[in-house]
Amino acid sequence: MNDATLLEVNDLHAHIGSPRGVVKAVDGVSFDLRHGAALGIVGESGSGKSVMARAVMGLMPPRSDCTGEVLFHGRNLLTLTKKELRAIWGKQIAMVFQDPGRSLNPVVRVDRQLTEGMRQHLGISKSEALTRALGLLTEVGVPDPERRLRAYPHELSGGMRQRVMIAVALACEPELLIADEPTTALDVTIQRQVLDLLRRIQAERSMSLMLISHDLHVVAGRTDRVAVMYAGRLAETGASRTVFDDPRHRYTSALLAATPTIEHERHARLRVIPGSLPSPTDPPAGCRFAPRCTATSDSCLTSQPAMVTIDEDHRVACAHPVMTKQKEGELVGR
Ligand SMILES: Nc1ncnc2c1ncn2[C@@H]1O[C@H](COP(=O)(O)OP(=O)(O)OP(=O)(O)O)[C@@H](O)[C@H]1O
Ligand SMILES: [Mg+2]
Repeated sequence: MNDATLLEVNDLHAHIGSPRGVVKAVDGVSFDLRHGAALGIVGESGSGKSVMARAVMGLMPPRSDCTGEVLFHGRNLLTLTKKELRAIWGKQIAMVFQDPGRSLNPVVRVDRQLTEGMRQHLGISKSEALTRALGLLTEVGVPDPERRLRAYPHELSGGMRQRVMIAVALACEPELLIADEPTTALDVTIQRQVLDLLRRIQAERSMSLMLISHDLHVVAGRTDRVAVMYAGRLAETGASRTVFDDPRHRYTSALLAATPTIEHERHARLRVIPGSLPSPTDPPAGCRFAPRCTATSDSCLTSQPAMVTIDEDHRVACAHPVMTKQKEGELVGR
């Protein structure tokens, strides 16, 4: 771990006990995130993005088991007690949850939701916290912030609620913000505004951002690096522009072609990735994408592919990575 690294995740496994067996939601994921940088995590529904984010936060459901390392400032969060984690939540690492119900309390006015954490973590007075709360609502683009401060969440539109959730997450000036699909349920124009806002605030505050989405188009333009997740593992990582323009894993190419996107909604010709995610309780022994891949060899069915380096920072977990910029016709041909 060097000085520039804020978060380093090493061989993270997050398994959850369920009536259908042990769900291997995250199964050997490693990546790092630098101070002040934005990392996108993308993958289709069920690939393990939210479980990974919750594991990083130490917020796993009961009957779950996390192994590996989540080093934040070099300290392994997986070994901390709930009390030690509580001192980190909000203040050093904050999260905007995918499920809005988890982020805002419906029976508490916006002012209290914004100021409570600040008073607790920053030790400031009520009036100072209120002044900061007004500033935050203005920063995230909430018009008439004095009035919004006295509102209950249900009195706000979806877009305003999403902005308030981001303001709550930013309230204690976290070093790392994890935003899990922060714009689902919003219309396309508002989605773009909220995502651009997140990127702007991340850059202005030199905050680290983990932006989770199923849409690689959305993430690529607003992050420095991206990690593509498939069935609990990473398929490809690299500079966002490189992964977007020159994907080397066939899953990444397929995802680009198949994702409905807010960026190109008018002319998107969507394709479905043939096949479906493997069973999370009984994943295949070899490459998890092999049953859906167009370049499978015998070894793909028996051994898990190692991460190989294409370029300095561009890595792909595939035994037969796409070797040219030409994309695979069968998956993304137009
Ligand atoms: N509390 C839980 N108990 C049992 N299984 C779970 C639980 N939470 C998630 N899972 C399973 O873990 C796997 C990964 O789920 P996860 O929610 O992380 O996916 P995701 O990539 O965030 O998908 P989405 O894009 O739909 O949000 C899925 O198979 C899901 O069914
Ligand atoms: Mg999710």
